[in-house]
Amino acid sequence: MTNVKPEAATEVSAAEPGSPVAETRELVVEAKNVTAGYLPGINILNECSLTAYKGELIGIIGPNGAGKSTLLKAIFGLVQVRGGEINLYGEDITNLKANELVSRGVGFVPQTENVFPTLSIRENLEMGLFQKPKEIDERLAFVLGIFPELEKRLKQRAGSLSGGERQMVAMSRALMMGPHVLLLDEPSAGLSPVRQDEAFLRVKEINRAGVTTIMVEQNAQRCLEIADRGYVLDQGTDAYTGTGRELLGDPKVISLYLGTLGDEDDD
Ligand SMILES: Nc1ncnc2c1ncn2[C@@H]1O[C@H](COP(=O)(O)OP(=O)(O)O)[C@@H](O)[C@H]1O
Ligand SMILES: [Mg+2]
Repeated sequence: MTNVKPEAATEVSAAEPGSPVAETRELVVEAKNVTAGYLPGINILNECSLTAYKGELIGIIGPNGAGKSTLLKAIFGLVQVRGGEINLYGEDITNLKANELVSRGVGFVPQTENVFPTLSIRENLEMGLFQKPKEIDERLAFVLGIFPELEKRLKQRAGSLSGGERQMVAMSRALMMGPHVLLLDEPSAGLSPVRQDEAFLRVKEINRAGVTTIMVEQNAQRCLEIADRGYVLDQGTDAYTGTGRELLGDPKVISLYLGTLGDEDDD
């Protein structure tokens, strides 16, 4: 694990054996020293950098208010980037609008308000594809392969679903667009421990299907356990990065960000 500041984090540490990164090193998403914010004169992200190589599952953890959601929104064109740049497959996508990013293969699942409650599950899934009706069946088959429990409930109103079910619909909705890159904001938030495990398994499955995935999580331990690499965001910048395993084993990261994981010390 390395403290990536003050240098820019365009380099990654060696890929773990067996990680998808070991074979392919195509840079998919690159955020370079991104500065961004909502209100004039107030920067939430400060020279924040991140990379995601093809096929990687990247975990982003850090305290509340660190800017994790803001980073995903900056990548997806929902927050004004004021400095630095964001590249997708080497092309500058800084401040492109969300619909442009969707057409370039980027999907985003916000933490909340990520389904249309008055529409059925099927309508939620099909709505982004109304201009491409021929693609619906193939995409639906892929999505229902990952979330088979949705199949029997396609007519059900999304607003009547539990939190975990809504999360599945939200992820499915993003997958219907056939993204190469998926940005997930706290897929386990608000779920019971069992449902959280399930959500992480689905994320892993989506990633294994070849979708480069960048996931923000408050469940730092579980996130780093399944991530190829992770970033610890603190005060709007990438404070630490490393493989999931490196971050989980780093005493500084444990004491500052993983809290109770360090409680195994005898006294
Ligand atoms: N729409 C907004 N307008 C103004 N400030 C915002 C907005 N959204 C988030 N912020 C502020 O940005 C900071 C980082 O928020 P956020 O990215 O949501 O953090 P995290 O996801 O790491 O908890 C917080 O101080 C928050 O109050
Ligand atoms: Mg957040």
